[in-house]
Amino acid sequence: MINLLELIEHRRSIRRFEAKPVEPEKITLLLKAALLAPSSKNTRSWEFIVIDQPDLLQKVSQCRDQSSSFVANAPLAIVVVVDPAKNDAWIENGTIASAFLQLQAEDLGLGSCWIQVARRPHNETLSAEEYIRQVLHVPDSLRVLNMVAIGYKAQELTPRHIDELQVKIHYNGF
Ligand SMILES: Cc1cc2nc3c(=O)[nH]c(=O)nc-3n(C[C@H](O)[C@H](O)[C@H](O)COP(=O)(O)O)c2cc1C
Repeated sequence: MINLLELIEHRRSIRRFEAKPVEPEKITLLLKAALLAPSSKNTRSWEFIVIDQPDLLQKVSQCRDQSSSFVANAPLAIVVVVDPAKNDAWIENGTIASAFLQLQAEDLGLGSCWIQVARRPHNETLSAEEYIRQVLHVPDSLRVLNMVAIGYKAQELTPRHIDELQVKIHYNGF
């Protein structure tokens, strides 16, 4: 049985997936993990759009350039949209829910990768956020933070180890 730190070490950004759907029971567990994430003042200001239709996965994969193209070959993407009117910490709320999704994916034997949408361009005239808004009919009141591509891994990446990060830690001041 793997412990939480081992799970965190093993989670890597997976961008190649097997052509195999994610079972509905597993999708439910992924969403439960996201819905149990902490949020500022418990506002739970996020909503999650589950994309499993190949034509839609193809469309959302075009929101960015090569940074999102691999989503076309993922069996599943979960788009995280957040209401900034419910709480100003909308980025933080959406980010923590996304991280929970990614860790739950790893625990289920699935790979995942974050794709940034907010503050990224689709092309010279349209933002990636507006592009996703149009494709998925997201209300104007909600911000599109990111999407998380999920599926069975078709690549293995080596776990990360903590030693290289020790320099980031400071005690009792910087
Ligand atoms: C805020 C954020 C934005 C990211 N945006 C993208 C993205 O648009 N496309 C992508 O392929 N990966 C994206 N990633 C994944 C990072 O590239 C990846 O987490 C980083 O290189 C570390 O690799 P690891 O996740 O395998 O440890 C993003 C990750 C974060 C946290």
